[in-house]
Amino acid sequence: MGTERRTVSRISISLDHDLLASLDRLVASRRYANRSEAVRDLIRARLVEREWKGNKAVIGTITLLYDHHVRDLPHKLTSMQHESKAQVISTMHVHLDHHNCLEVVVVKGRSREVAELANALISARGVRHGELTASSLGRKI
Ligand code: NI
Repeated sequence: MGTERRTVSRISISLDHDLLASLDRLVASRRYANRSEAVRDLIRARLVEREWKGNKAVIGTITLLYDHHVRDLPHKLTSMQHESKAQVISTMHVHLDHHNCLEVVVVKGRSREVAELANALISARGVRHGELTASSLGRKI
């Protein structure tokens, strides 16, 4: 694999005392190496958010923790994935214990379609926890 060369530019920004204190708390709580790392992350997060609002092409994972004894739930979750306009690339299912299943669904598509699928899965009765993690590829997929 080739290594990508990036030029790093140094900028200086002015922050009031309270905002700087908040940034430092964020750096400490998330264990960022330094302020620059935290600021870079915040900028990237905002850019991804903007792409989502524009209904751009995105890729993401939907993580679900659910009780497979809830009537019809495994079947419902599978049907939602089959019927989604977003493309389900892969799923991983882990039988955690007697009650709980963990499922990770890898999806790609327009942000609206991916969000729609994630919301439907996460809000299904019997799903104890769900989360969508998404990234923008910054190009058409
Ligand atoms: Ni299971």
